[in-house]
Amino acid sequence: VDALVTFARGRLRGTIAVPGDKSISHRALILQAFLGETLTINNLNAGRDVRATAAAVRQISAERREPKVNKTLAIDCMNSGSTARMLMGVCAGANLSAAFDGDASLRARPMEPVAAQLRAFGARINCTDGRLPATVLGTATPQTRAFILIEPSAQVKSAILFAGLFAGVPVAIHGDRSSRDHTERLLGHLGAQIVWNGRTVTLDRPPARIVPIAVPGDFSAACFFIVAATVAPGSDVRIEGVGVNPTRTGLLDALRSMGADITLHEEREQSGEPVADIVVRHAPLRATSIGGELALRSIDEIPLIAVAAAFAEGTTKINGVRELQNKESDRLAAIVRLLDAAGVSTERLPNGIAIVGGRPHSQGATLVTHGDHRTAMAAAALAAGAGPIALDSADSIDVSFPQFLATFAQAQS
Ligand code: S3P
Repeated sequence: VDALVTFARGRLRGTIAVPGDKSISHRALILQAFLGETLTINNLNAGRDVRATAAAVRQISAERREPKVNKTLAIDCMNSGSTARMLMGVCAGANLSAAFDGDASLRARPMEPVAAQLRAFGARINCTDGRLPATVLGTATPQTRAFILIEPSAQVKSAILFAGLFAGVPVAIHGDRSSRDHTERLLGHLGAQIVWNGRTVTLDRPPARIVPIAVPGDFSAACFFIVAATVAPGSDVRIEGVGVNPTRTGLLDALRSMGADITLHEEREQSGEPVADIVVRHAPLRATSIGGELALRSIDEIPLIAVAAAFAEGTTKINGVRELQNKESDRLAAIVRLLDAAGVSTERLPNGIAIVGGRPHSQGATLVTHGDHRTAMAAAALAAGAGPIALDSADSIDVSFPQFLATFAQAQS
């Protein structure tokens, strides 16, 4: 079945619904484990990554309810970096013993930064060459409570917050205000005392309020449609109920600076997060330059910004994104392969990539996705404006957006 997935050229129209935010879903499940199952979560993401967290959280909760002597939990994080890093924090703080592992892609991703910070907290952590498999032995006597973040990573920041939460001690983290802040917002929604002061966030008091969590639509999922509609002539779509947290919406700023026609409607708040309907119409684009804080605020959408850049007049430069080599696959290499499928030239920069815009044109080339869900779905946006692109496998899409193929086909029908 897989080999048959080919995305087609064609405009997108109508109203589109995207799944619940993957990033927020992981956090909601962890906070449910902390507060108890009377906490309801609506619109949880149904993808494989979040299912990995749900299964692991069930193991962790069972062990916290009825601890067994010398028990080491075996936690399978599958393809999910968020599951591995954030649950390492939970186990560190909850004084649990756990062995973490994942698929081949996850085994290639760095775990040493999160391990180093949790060791300072007092956990004993053994990685394999800085990666998975890893064992975590939590601590009953937390040491360091004031951290300097060693990289601007929301996963590492959240791991430390969860370690403090499950250990029952206040923690402060300094060094980053641009990475996504869903953990902080969700903790605040649930009544925790958590405050930002400049580039320092402090968690002083745990959440105490059992109010439902309504997970907003996933902005990262919406972006496949935002870019597809922007590059495919005749497009006009409305994507409903999408989270527009400014730490996530770098792609909107980048695309608008390129001349895209994107407007937000019905702006509202949901479980501590800003939410809106996003209306997108096709528009001609011009090249742009992005880097720094804007790159961090669009870290998972860089492949899609590259797709938009392929249709823009001029050469777009994307800098400060070396970290993309450590995502579900090497996403800088993925951008080169993806755009090459439509005859678009790219040039690797020391810290990023340049894209020579023009008139992308594809005739059914098969893209090697290396099992990366975002690369697979970005191909749909490229094909919408450039012509048919086939996938070597569409299996990875289930990681974050099980309904993607049907939703995209509906929008193009
Ligand atoms: C995520 C943070 C980002 C992002 C990932 C999800 C999160 O990773 O790329 O897809 O949910 O906190 P880093 O924190 O490693 O930058």
